[in-house]
Amino acid sequence: MPTSTTSFTPAAAARRLRVPGDKSISHRTLILAALADGPSIARGVLDSADVRATAGVLAALGVEIEWPVAEHQVRVRGAGLRGLRSPTSDLACENSGTTARLLAGVVAGAGCSGRFVGDASLSRRPMQRIARPLVQMGADVLLSPDDTLPMTVVGGALRSIDYASPTASAQVKSAVLLAGLLAGVPVSVTEPEPSRDHTERMLAARGVAITAEGRRVSLIPPESLPTVDARVPGDPSSAAFLLAFAAAGGAGPDGLTVDAICVSPARAGFLAALRRMGADVVETPLPGWDEPVADVLVRPGELRAIEVGGADIPSMIDELPMLAVLATQAVGETVIRGAEELRVKESDRIAAVVAALRAIGADAEERADGLIVRGQLRSHAGRVVTHGDHRLAMAFGVLGALPGNAVEIDDRGCVAVSYPGFWSDLALIAALR
Ligand code: S3P
Repeated sequence: MPTSTTSFTPAAAARRLRVPGDKSISHRTLILAALADGPSIARGVLDSADVRATAGVLAALGVEIEWPVAEHQVRVRGAGLRGLRSPTSDLACENSGTTARLLAGVVAGAGCSGRFVGDASLSRRPMQRIARPLVQMGADVLLSPDDTLPMTVVGGALRSIDYASPTASAQVKSAVLLAGLLAGVPVSVTEPEPSRDHTERMLAARGVAITAEGRRVSLIPPESLPTVDARVPGDPSSAAFLLAFAAAGGAGPDGLTVDAICVSPARAGFLAALRRMGADVVETPLPGWDEPVADVLVRPGELRAIEVGGADIPSMIDELPMLAVLATQAVGETVIRGAEELRVKESDRIAAVVAALRAIGADAEERADGLIVRGQLRSHAGRVVTHGDHRLAMAFGVLGALPGNAVEIDDRGCVAVSYPGFWSDLALIAALR
């Protein structure tokens, strides 16, 4: 079972904690280390089911991974850009969309072939979005009739591509960049809105020629990737649950600080939303990281409803379930629009969040591209069906831990894909009140 990297500083009175490493950066740290020429060390990698799935697929492609070599450290013996081999068994992505989509780009670019499989949730999620550009580059991608997993990817001599992605998706962008990196061909991707840019930042930090002009990012492939001694900052999407709890007063009037989380603009939308809702949010930037990283303090405020949409959405996409649930604690009507992508996450997060909000007596309405929540400032009670979706379990867990509420979660264990220590951390913070 994965262990949490969370730890309180000795005095709980310090009101600080660390959350596990960022999930997106952890996947990419392992992948880029696997493609380097020789051994890399990665510190602070998230030890969760999703990131273990990426490590498992890389191992099946011939990469040696030692995890852990020391507390929270992973050693990866990179196979180089030309050293991967086709797997002899299925590539098990479990619940992880990032594993399936990024590594499809890797397998295609490496000229390998492999069959990607996943759990019931991942097997419902759309894969055509990565198949399309990879096929245009010259790979063969065989999907199930409904465009889902199982997905067989057969790489080859790929062509360069200048791809206009219809979706703001870092997974699509990254699949194309990684395919170009491995196949040794220049690639460009243009997105409708900017999505998280960890792949670009991490490749640039490894000396790869990567340029961004507006919403178009381009890569010129190098001969090889260097080994690194990498450090993964805390995950703002995991921190969001604890910070939302603090914003609603759950940690008491002095609030809570989460140390060293990634605050790059492409991930900081939820902190901006908390500010607009009336919470006091103070960021203390930390030097010496490849990404913008800060300690973030949140103190409670009188929360008011906000509207989010358009370019806000990709920067808080994984935090939208928490925002919708926090809206029950805010005065007025909170509106989330332009977020149809929520329908193809680990669950249909629009339908599932609205159903769960109603099940606990909240006033919520579904829209094709989002939802509306009218805060009622009263207690909530009932049973929530998570559909095995970690972010639903944590969002409603936060609400349930606020005084006066009684929320039962049908599947508390599903948090293991991104934040295995969540329930004990939430209990520690609730004890600060
Ligand atoms: C991720 C990108 C986002 C996000 C997911 C992680 C990544 O998905 O929701 O949790 O690591 O690239 P999309 O690319 O589908 O937007």
